Parts: sequence; structure tokens; C-alpha cells
Amino acid sequence: MAEVKKIAVIAGDGIGPEVVAEAEKVLKRTEELFGYKFQTEHALFGGIAIDEKGTPLPQETLDICQKADAVLLGAVGGPKWDNNPKELRPETGLLGIRKALGLFSNLRPAVVFDCLKDASTLKAEVLEGTDLIVVRELTGGIYFGEKFRRETENGQEAVDTCAYNVNEVERIVRQAFEIAQKRRKKLASVDKANVLETSRLWREVVIKVAPEYPDVELEHVLVDNCAMQLLRRPSSFDVIVTENMFGDILSDEAAMLTGSIGMLSSASLGEGSFGLYEPVHGSAPDIAGQNLANPIATILSVALMFRMTFGYADAADAIERAVSDVLNAGHRTGDIAVDKSKAIGTTEMGDMIVAAIKK
Ligand code: IPM
Ligand code: MG
Repeated sequence: MAEVKKIAVIAGDGIGPEVVAEAEKVLKRTEELFGYKFQTEHALFGGIAIDEKGTPLPQETLDICQKADAVLLGAVGGPKWDNNPKELRPETGLLGIRKALGLFSNLRPAVVFDCLKDASTLKAEVLEGTDLIVVRELTGGIYFGEKFRRETENGQEAVDTCAYNVNEVERIVRQAFEIAQKRRKKLASVDKANVLETSRLWREVVIKVAPEYPDVELEHVLVDNCAMQLLRRPSSFDVIVTENMFGDILSDEAAMLTGSIGMLSSASLGEGSFGLYEPVHGSAPDIAGQNLANPIATILSVALMFRMTFGYADAADAIERAVSDVLNAGHRTGDIAVDKSKAIGTTEMGDMIVAAIKK
């Protein structure tokens, strides 16, 4: 009998509950087919938690996550909470959960699916073969540095501090080298070492650890140049490692290369096997509750969880294969459909994928 794996399920806001419901169908199907056992526990987080508990990240939610082996997250946020004070914003909950769970590493793959290459705004010949992953540092830098306002003779001034210590840089850089070793063995370390002190430290650390990974071809790329090269030669990148804010920006850019943000999954990891898995897309309040959202990114997040946290490669492969089979058969949700009149809904897409999972 398989060991019971505990999964904290955070549906969140907007389309979150709809896409998570489809992912849960996939969990159930893999239990039936592969004999794995999952125990799911739902927790409130984000806007809905602000409404029901008065805080975006209730202690109870954190407890459920801390007791779990992995977290599956839908999406959080929406216009309803956009003008709230900082403590009552869903984003604050997101930063809080990353820090509290020690998730210092955020992996965001950007893969151009062959059958969808015309969905991008970029030319198909530029995108051909693009398969990269952004490894973003997630619990340091300007996001978490000291922030304050002060009065000056020129009026009010706002300050955000960007700080990184050697340990914070080294652990993420090592993880990126290890990921590169399992892929095409190319690592681009992105910084702004021509201007920023944190970037100069970043680059020193990369140079110090690089000799331990002699099989990985390393390049240092300045962040502005990287933004440009991502559009010019996306397929030449394999692994990109960078600090928190550069990673935030570059991972959105990389996602758009694929033209299918509704297809991309992500993982946030700490030191052990524990991980938080979520689609790259947001809560899409404009289409929420209408059975229009694409559940594939969340379903692929389950596959990523199986592979990275549980080591269930057989079930992960089966889910990924089911997704490609359904796409290859021509089924599309509205976001990726060329002929929108033939688009299917969230639940139909989920049911088709579930039916296509084979042992
Ligand atoms: C992301 C998001 C968040 C971030 C926001 C919502 C706080 O943009 O996960 O990329 O900046 O990290
Ligand atoms: Mg972002």
C-alpha cells in the first residue's frame, strides 16, 4: 500500500477554484490507476481569506501547509482587494507564505508546445525549439528588504532596500547548476553587475561555485540584455538563474514567448522535497465563474508535484501524455483556440484529460 501523501489545496480567488477542481479530478484518477494515496485538505488564502478571516494568510492555512508534503495553489487576487492597505492584500499573503515555508527557489519553465506555436505573438521560426526554465530567487532581494517613507526637504521619499547575503545567493545558484546538469547543461546567470552591489556579489558567488559544475556551460548576462536576447534567441537558453525581481519580470516575458500562459506550471521549493505548485497564470477575474479558464497549467502543476516532490514519475508522465493527446486531438480552451467558436470549457477539458490518463 502506497504511503499517504498529504496535499494542502488552496483554491484561492477568481478562476482558482475552477482550475483546482479539475486538478483534483486528476489526483483522484491517478489514485485509481496507480494505487497512490492522497489526503487533501483545503485551506483559505488570498482574497477569500481576507473576506472570511480578515487576513490573506490565516495561521490555520499556514499550519495546514506546514503539515503537508506539498501544496497545490490555484491563484489569488482580484480588483476587489486592489485598493486595500498592504496587510489586507492577497499579494502580501503570497510573499508571506513563500517566506514562512522557506520557498527560496521558484522554477518557471517556458516551453513552446509544438501544436501551439502559432499562438505566440512572436514568429514561429524564432520560437522553434524553445524550452527554457527560469530559476528565480524567491525570498530575498528588494521584495523583502527594509521599506519605509521619510520626509525630506523635497517632500516625501520612499525607500526599498535590496539585500542579498552569500548564503542566499549560493543555495539558489547551486540549485540552478544542478537543474542545468539534468537538462542541456547551459546556465545563464542574470544580474546587473555593472551597476548594483548585490549583483556584483551575485556574480562573485556564481564564479566561485562554477568550477564544481565543469560540465555546465556558464554565461553571465546583464538583465537588460537578457530581456532583449529572450526575444532574439529564446531557443538558445536552457536554465536562467536570477534574483527575485529580475526573475519576476523575465519569467513573465519568457511565459509570453509560448503564447500560452494557460499552459505553464511552476514549482516553488525549499531545502527538502516539500514544494508549492501553481499555474503561472493569475486569477483572471474577468473570466472567473464562467467555465472558460484553461485548467492545463494547474493539471501540469500536479504532474510537476508528482515528479519533484513525490518521485512519482510514472503518474507524472501519464498526466503529461494525456495533456498532449488531448491537445493533439485538436481540443482547445478559448485562450489557445484559433477558432474560438469551437473552444471547450474548463470542465470539459478537465474531463477529457482525466479520460486520457492511462497507466
Ligand atoms: C509572481 C507575482 C507576484 C510576485 C506578485 C503577485 C506579488 O507577480 O508570482 O510573479 O511579484 O512575485
Ligand atoms: Mg510576477
